[in-house]
Amino acid sequence: MNKILDAYRKNTPASAAAQARAERSVPGGNSRGAAYWTPHPLTIKRAMHATVVDVDGREYIDVVNNYTSLAHSHAYPPIVEAVTKQVGGGTAWTANNVWQAELAETLIERIPSAQGARFTNSGSEAGILALTIARAITGRNKVLMAKYGYHGILMEYEAGSFPGLMPHGENATYIGIYNDAESFEQILAEHGSEIAAVVLEPVMGAGGVLAATSEFLNRVQAAANAAGALFILDEVITFRLSEGGAQALYDIEPDLTMLGKVIGGGFPVGAVVGKHEHMQVFDPAAAKVVHSGTFCGNPVTMAAGAVSVRELTAERIARMDALAARLCNGLATHASNLRLPLSIRREGSLLNILFAAEEPQEAAQRREDAEAMHLFFLAALNHGLLMAPRGLICLSTVMDEALIDTVVQRAAAAMEDVAEELAGEG
Ligand SMILES: Cc1ncc(COP(=O)(O)O)c(C=O)c1O
Repeated sequence: MNKILDAYRKNTPASAAAQARAERSVPGGNSRGAAYWTPHPLTIKRAMHATVVDVDGREYIDVVNNYTSLAHSHAYPPIVEAVTKQVGGGTAWTANNVWQAELAETLIERIPSAQGARFTNSGSEAGILALTIARAITGRNKVLMAKYGYHGILMEYEAGSFPGLMPHGENATYIGIYNDAESFEQILAEHGSEIAAVVLEPVMGAGGVLAATSEFLNRVQAAANAAGALFILDEVITFRLSEGGAQALYDIEPDLTMLGKVIGGGFPVGAVVGKHEHMQVFDPAAAKVVHSGTFCGNPVTMAAGAVSVRELTAERIARMDALAARLCNGLATHASNLRLPLSIRREGSLLNILFAAEEPQEAAQRREDAEAMHLFFLAALNHGLLMAPRGLICLSTVMDEALIDTVVQRAAAAMEDVAEELAGEG
């Protein structure tokens, strides 16, 4: 008897029905694997501020913010205003708009290594574009990434994200071990002449919020450049960590940076930013890289993104970080009182809950806790808390102490349910 699962089913009959209907026409019910969970995902009908409401009419505090893409939670009034104005004036046309330069200028102002920006419709596309640039510049084909790194759905990257599961990109992908500079140096020494780019996240997102050491990033960048490969930093998630992204905190300047998520203000987005010497591949006269897309740099996304980034100030980032520390302490205290084997990794406003007594050093180990994590995830939903199924939590600028304390209370109630369930099993 699984009380948590039973309660979830009882709470969400309309979501179950909506999912069953969707599965008849959309394989899996949804075009987004990361938003699927068993027995069925919620179907949400409305989202405002830090709350989402499902089709059963139940309310949840949203502490995942669309996998980190919402810096200011849902329907943030300044973004709603900018977007509404833009939608009323048209959503896309075959010519330029003024918003694109505005967003690019803000990114260039903030990110030390950015002298130019090109926009895409997703972080995955940014990853594809960054690799295309590196291939055009180096005349090489392969990529070197970290095991369990995540850079989107390009098959070359999937070979590293899901080793063993999706080997179809393996012929073009070398895989090093995160935070083990030597493993990267060795591959570059042996195969450097085939490698167009080394791609790394400064903090692994899908890998469970695991931060790189400064030494690791510096050594890998030096080895990549010495081998004639480009060093690409994937800041799709980590740009939110400071006004200039994680690279400003680490004091590094990659050749190219992938962006996404918060720079779109809640709309589909991605970008590659970099130095002039690399970005000049887009010079239409030279035509070294031809880059286009029907919705790339569209005025709605660019308007939302310009507001989102402008309002993500150093002061508000610091406040989010303090709230995340408060949340982290609250969760840890309750877990310890209940003797739950739970640890939390935190970097700024990003947290990842792990069901392991000791914080695992290898990103891979997070997968061993899948069953307990799933129980906790469903129990949290039962108590009105939406996080990512894998335990990722991400705060926003509109949250405050009172809301965080409510989150802690709800998470504590979920932990009690999990402790009871695990004791029952034992
Ligand atoms: C680090 C990182 N890179 C790239 C991506 C891909 O971005 P998108 O989902 O917008 O394609 C993600 C998405 O979660 C990500 O976390």
